[in-house]
Amino acid sequence: MSANKVKSERVIIFDTTLRDGEQSPGAAMTLGEKIEIAEFLDTMGVDVIEAGFPVSSPGDFEAVAEISKRMKNAAVAGLARAGFKDIDRAGEAVKGAKRPRIHTFISTSPVHMKHKLQMGPNAVLDAVGASVARARNLTDDVEWSAEDATRTERDFLCRCVELAIRSGATTINIPDTVGYATPQEYFELIKMLRDSVPSADKVVFSTHCHNDLGLAVANSLAGVLAGARQVECTINGIGERAGNAALEEIAMALRVRHDLMPFATGIDTRMLARGSKLVSNVTNFPVQYNKAIVGKNAFSHESGIHQDGMLKNVETYEIMRPEDVGVKETSLVLGKLSGRHAFRDKLANLGYELADAAFEDAFRRFKELADKKKTMFDEDLVALADDEIVRGQDAVTVRALRVETGMGVAPSAALTLGFNGDEKCVRTTGDGPVDAIFSAIHELYPHTAELRLYEVHAVTEGTDAQATVSVRLEENGRTVTGRGADTDTLVASAYAYVNALNKLLVKRNKQAPEALNVAR
Ligand code: KIV
Ligand code: ZN
Repeated sequence: MSANKVKSERVIIFDTTLRDGEQSPGAAMTLGEKIEIAEFLDTMGVDVIEAGFPVSSPGDFEAVAEISKRMKNAAVAGLARAGFKDIDRAGEAVKGAKRPRIHTFISTSPVHMKHKLQMGPNAVLDAVGASVARARNLTDDVEWSAEDATRTERDFLCRCVELAIRSGATTINIPDTVGYATPQEYFELIKMLRDSVPSADKVVFSTHCHNDLGLAVANSLAGVLAGARQVECTINGIGERAGNAALEEIAMALRVRHDLMPFATGIDTRMLARGSKLVSNVTNFPVQYNKAIVGKNAFSHESGIHQDGMLKNVETYEIMRPEDVGVKETSLVLGKLSGRHAFRDKLANLGYELADAAFEDAFRRFKELADKKKTMFDEDLVALADDEIVRGQDAVTVRALRVETGMGVAPSAALTLGFNGDEKCVRTTGDGPVDAIFSAIHELYPHTAELRLYEVHAVTEGTDAQATVSVRLEENGRTVTGRGADTDTLVASAYAYVNALNKLLVKRNKQAPEALNVAR
């Protein structure tokens, strides 16, 4: 049967980048970053956004509540364990959403019940019924998950699912929490539940597969083939341990192999590459070069045989077009004579719309960059626009930096920071130029945060390439990542460290940036 004759059934895409994804060690996000990602997911066509675990912290509650208010299309889910306090808090957080969902879960496998919950099967069954009923009193859209479902005894799982449905659940999620299942096994599990649990046809079955054996996407698709109509996934596959099923892989597998899997999603796949970059930037988790769909090399053809075939006909080695996932050919772009109009058009073409002040600043920096760099690439403009978005709100800013270093010279940095109109300067020495800069920042802005990561990436090739620097700071268990971009790696380092400090202060004080002078 040809693909376009098949009537597609819809698969719901449930994105948990902001909840399961954020559980990856080091992936903590600020409120602003979560909102930026949620708005992106909403525009991209995600059906359900799991925005956080409201009872876990005031910050998570605030993020879920704020995202709930802002989403135009997507349902917003808040996660809750089976206790009433969790469920009420989740209900409170999502109540401002157009389509609020409470997602409640409890472990059902023998090993989890015994060692984690220290509950017997009957107590777990009671909790299933009570938690779902409680959630259903707060909203009509209730998802119930059997944590560690794939290692749960089948009869007991059927009883739990049946009770969750009777108590009012509308979606039943079957997590492969530890990434243990194989595709055949997962297919059979979903099929068995759909075939044998009473009223199974009244609910949506959902997959939630972890990637410990590298099978998360294969398992999720097997679940869909067995009748699941919701897939839980994350951008770039981030998540606990080896992560979750990658949203971009699910969306493209369903699209490219529509002949075998005639299911549609609401995802605008042309936004996938940007979504991947956004999440990678925010979490500072690099995307592996050979990552399917969004890796740097996913559409490059290196060997002579492949290049020859591609030149004759792209279909020889390409099963999808780069533009289908939003990858554009790297092209030479504007030069130093280009004006505001061309610059704005080019940014729009790359998917950026900057507010007036940010645009003016980006344009000024673009001119400076065009003076310094022989050739400007799309990536240069993307780095510049990202930098403007990331650092645009900072209350503390780098105003001037002069570094002296070299053989036989004690590295030193003369730094000026701006604090809401006020300026302060200092000159310090260090073990190296970066150390001297960071010491200067410390002197001007004393803090107790510890440096956990310092990383430099070149945006393009060549010695005149821009550098993006990432700095991770930790203070009292809170982690933030700052970023900065410049053709001068040392300037980018100062930008990144100060950006991280700004985020930490906003997180620490939960106060308006104007109040930062007081905190100093
Ligand atoms: O992996 C898991 O079991 C989960 C549940 C909370 C759905 O993330
Ligand atoms: Zn999970």
